[in-house]
Amino acid sequence: MSTKPLTGHECPGDPCTIVIFGASGDLTKRKLLPALYNLKALKLLPENFAVIGVAVSDSNDELFRTQITSDIQQFATRPVDQAEWDDFSKRSYYLSGDFNNPDTFQHLGAKITDVQKTWNLSGNVLFYLAIAPTFFGKVVEQLGNAGLTEEKPDAWRRVIIEKPFGHDLQSARDLNADLTKHVAESQIYRIDHYLGKETVQNIMVFRFGNSVFEPIWNRRYIDYVQITVAEELGVELRGGYYDHSGVTRDMVQNHILSVLSLVAMEPPTSISGDSVRNEKVKVLEAIRPMEPEEVLANTVRGQYGAGIIDGKNVPAYRTEPNVNPQSNTETFVAMKLEVDNWRWADVPFYIRSGKRLAARTTQIVIGFKRTPLLLFGKGVEDNIMPNRLVIHVQPDEGITMDIHAKRPGPGISIANVPLDFSYQEFGESNAATGYETLLYDCMIGDMTLFHRYDSVDASWRIVNPILDVWQALHPRDFPNYAAGTWGPEASDRLIEKSGHAWHHYLLNK
Ligand code: BG6
Repeated sequence: MSTKPLTGHECPGDPCTIVIFGASGDLTKRKLLPALYNLKALKLLPENFAVIGVAVSDSNDELFRTQITSDIQQFATRPVDQAEWDDFSKRSYYLSGDFNNPDTFQHLGAKITDVQKTWNLSGNVLFYLAIAPTFFGKVVEQLGNAGLTEEKPDAWRRVIIEKPFGHDLQSARDLNADLTKHVAESQIYRIDHYLGKETVQNIMVFRFGNSVFEPIWNRRYIDYVQITVAEELGVELRGGYYDHSGVTRDMVQNHILSVLSLVAMEPPTSISGDSVRNEKVKVLEAIRPMEPEEVLANTVRGQYGAGIIDGKNVPAYRTEPNVNPQSNTETFVAMKLEVDNWRWADVPFYIRSGKRLAARTTQIVIGFKRTPLLLFGKGVEDNIMPNRLVIHVQPDEGITMDIHAKRPGPGISIANVPLDFSYQEFGESNAATGYETLLYDCMIGDMTLFHRYDSVDASWRIVNPILDVWQALHPRDFPNYAAGTWGPEASDRLIEKSGHAWHHYLLNK
């Protein structure tokens, strides 16, 4: 696993054919192609590689090359070098076909063999499923039936699966059972693009690469943890998917619980292989699933009404395209979780996420306890916040430690002073989509940053009881927050009950 930006000093990935299902979709053009191009520019794509796009739409190799050439101009995150791109483009192929039809997979097998001969490729094949989740099981079954998932000593076969992995606990289990009829767990790369983010990977470096934090990283010194993933965007054109999902399935079950487990896990014995994944799953298993009455007390859901974002009027969720006008889907969630282990007992973990909020920010706040003795007088200390450590994941990446210092002048007056570190200070521009590390890791067979099934299962066990209660009790007050705000008022009350408050801490402001 790479814990710093890929620089090109690493060895290139294994020679392989990369097959992208959903080649005409948004993810392919916005993220996957630019990420593959970046890897090529950094000399991290193997010299021997080829890409085969598969989708339902009618097209051919030539048209596909024209299409991706125009897409890369639009979505590349670094200047496109003509010679590099020409080489990429001529190694790109297209196959049109229906995923339900076994013939498509026979044709795919033949195409892979052709392409391997043309470019003298090994038998390694990476299948990327950038398709609707309803097809995950079907496509893997068809690949299996066509003999395309079978590994040989000199030929790996790996499948990258996008989220969501299941719609609830049972469907996740069913999907996993379907997949494992055709591929082993060691071939399944369940991708989570949050784990491709620099600052998320930096949580591990920060915790385990510095000796000063780990001794205080526990219930003795930490009062609470907050994780906020706030978006200004609404559901855009994804109403059809989102209305059946909601923010809890879309963001909490995967991204947020995964970030939480990095914050809370025990030190792994090594940074790669299964050590990290072993520790992450233990955290998830220590989060006690809520009883129905706890769901009512410890969670808040919301849905945005019309409002104002960046000075512009934006519509209510229920009037977005492909959203049911009476929809009860939540676009905001806040909850208080408890990690029942020796390190974290009684430390609340507050998480919240929502669309159409007041700012785009992903941040983790670690709130420390007050000093044991108010040496400087109650009046002085009442006005200052206990120390906080803020890990800014996006849009500005960095870390802030809030400390206390004496205001200059006579007498004792104490102020909160932020010690800011911004990634910009490294002076390295990070021309990346976030998918580079993950694609590269898959090509070198490093699964550290991918979800193992036991952690998917554990996450659903946390989220499912909440969804069940919400399903049974329709929200009466939706929409309950205006776009452009920090969500429903109940979210503030949820956290105030335990004597805390949400922090909206912006770096570089
Ligand atoms: C995706 C969700 O996984 O993450 C989207 O499906 C969400 O709804 C997106 O907008 C947020 O990702 P990022 O990287 O922009 O924070």
